[in-house]
Amino acid sequence: MTTVLDVQRYKEEGHRFAMLTAYDYLSAKILDEAGIPVLLVGDSLGMVMLGYATTLPVTVDEMIHHAKAVARGAKQALLIGDMPFMSYHSSVEQAITSAGRFLQEAGMHAVKVEGGGRIVEITSRLTSLGIPVMGHLGLTPQFVHQMGGFKVQGKSERQAARILADAKELEQAGAFSLVLEGVPADLATRITKSVRIPTIGIGAGPGTDGQVLVLHDMLGLTTGKPPKFVKRYANLAEEITQAAGQYMKEVGDGSFPGPEHSYGNGSPAPALRAAAPTDEVKYGAGS
Ligand code: KIV
Repeated sequence: MTTVLDVQRYKEEGHRFAMLTAYDYLSAKILDEAGIPVLLVGDSLGMVMLGYATTLPVTVDEMIHHAKAVARGAKQALLIGDMPFMSYHSSVEQAITSAGRFLQEAGMHAVKVEGGGRIVEITSRLTSLGIPVMGHLGLTPQFVHQMGGFKVQGKSERQAARILADAKELEQAGAFSLVLEGVPADLATRITKSVRIPTIGIGAGPGTDGQVLVLHDMLGLTTGKPPKFVKRYANLAEEITQAAGQYMKEVGDGSFPGPEHSYGNGSPAPALRAAAPTDEVKYGAGS
């Protein structure tokens, strides 16, 4: 199983690594079996899975519900639970309670928190309690209203210096890794060289130790023009539309279900049994 020590070793060995979001049992199982070493149950699930306009409405209960499903699907990956807005904002005690739920109830191995400043103390307390923390700097979506939208951060020298200082403070506080989101590539490279812990970029150029993408973006499941940093490795929305249309057509013209998808009265001959689709009625075939 991948641990926080492994991702540290990846950096030391110059082995770049991939992280993806996972929000449910099935995708977690597929990604885990594909060998993705780190899975993030991101609060982006609020926008991707629940249809919210931002991540702000997401609750701890919603996160735990999805995180539990991911933990049932993944056996090897390091699992990170994203602490949602207002789950660590009122006090260090509240942060401990929320983070504890991710490890104790949901089976996560670590949590992620956004921002610097006050988050440094929270990071220090959580790590001292055995709860590994992934930091998140740059474009931090929970600050969307303060940033005036989802905008690239760290373009000015002053902002860049602040982000670099936050990165060093989070490292000092015990964070085991840092997500750098929506920052200029040269700033991400500078931070990566300035800290010993691994950095994981999204919209941060090629100079980080690891990369993360939202699964549904890279699979082409989210529609519309993707952000510049997204590379689509598949076009599943198009495939689903095509498959749904074909299914509708075949149901309409009566060609589905055909005899090969229908049950008869008798058992198939033994020789056919192994190859034939099973007579067992089970949803989620093959899972
Ligand atoms: O919520 C999320 O998916 C994230 C990643 C994009 C880093 O925070």
